[in-house]
Amino acid sequence: MTSESSGKSKEGSNSEYGAGHTSLSYNSYLMVDQLKELQVCKSDPAHHDEPLFIIIHQTYELWFKLILHELDTVVSMMRANNPRRATFYMRRIVQIMRVLVNQIHILETMSPKDFLGFRNLLNPASGFQSSQFREVEFMAGLREPRMLEHFAKDEASFKMLQRRFDDPSLGDVFYELLRTHGFTLPPSTGTESGGGPDPNQVARINELKKLYDEPDKYLDFHDLAERLLDLDELILLWRTHHVTVVERIIGFKPGTGGSEGVGYLRSTLNKKCFPDLWQLRTYLTL
Ligand code: HEM
Repeated sequence: MTSESSGKSKEGSNSEYGAGHTSLSYNSYLMVDQLKELQVCKSDPAHHDEPLFIIIHQTYELWFKLILHELDTVVSMMRANNPRRATFYMRRIVQIMRVLVNQIHILETMSPKDFLGFRNLLNPASGFQSSQFREVEFMAGLREPRMLEHFAKDEASFKMLQRRFDDPSLGDVFYELLRTHGFTLPPSTGTESGGGPDPNQVARINELKKLYDEPDKYLDFHDLAERLLDLDELILLWRTHHVTVVERIIGFKPGTGGSEGVGYLRSTLNKKCFPDLWQLRTYLTL
């Protein structure tokens, strides 16, 4: 995030309201004039519904930006052995995600025919190219190398995504934190990506069950694990709501990004960021 380096308002410092606030106003602080210039329709004359389409995507991107900012802090807090502070910021992320899940439904007020009025002009732009969405996925541990291909012509995004891809995920850092507190969590063998089960997962699940078997003893870690699972569940809920709205608007037409559309989006519904945290529930007993 950027900030003013001098600590002094750009607008000067003589003011009837106090030093440093001369001409600061709501509009100038938030750069509302500049913000309102950023919705440029492709349709000409502008289709009535294109501003909705642009603004809803821009709003998502702004929230993704904040989510990434908070996730970076969550990682730092876990590395600093501060699970409570990590949980504090995870709660904010979870609340933002709840807004993001619900927000997609605004698009249902656009009729399928109205969308066709400008859809062709968007080709080949697609949600596939949302680098910030992919950054969130990579941080959460969902990493498919083929997703990087969509950024071959976008050097800055590609570099950032490559860094996120190579960095430890939220789950990795959480497990590192637990290991420093005596938990034995053998790393994934990687065999599961080849179709077989990960033999180390049983050992990890048995260890992670302690968080739920003795929640008072491990309350901070238990709460952090639950917020991570909230994030996972809300990403899944976003996917479910998004694909439902997509089907309602374009049916089974292919996507502008070249996928088969709804079929592809449905195939993403089984993705889990924290599979151990989901699986351990099956093995809990009284
Ligand atoms: C009329 C509204 C929308 C339609 C018809 C639509 C359609 C699609 C389709 C068909 C795909 C599959 C990729 C492709 O072939 O293009 C996709 C992916 C995606 N869309 Fe949308 N979308 C809409 C709104 C949104 C909004 C508001 C967002 C907000 C961020 C969004 C974010 C994404 C993302 C991130 C992906 C990639 C998902 C993944 O790979 O798991 N979409 N969309």
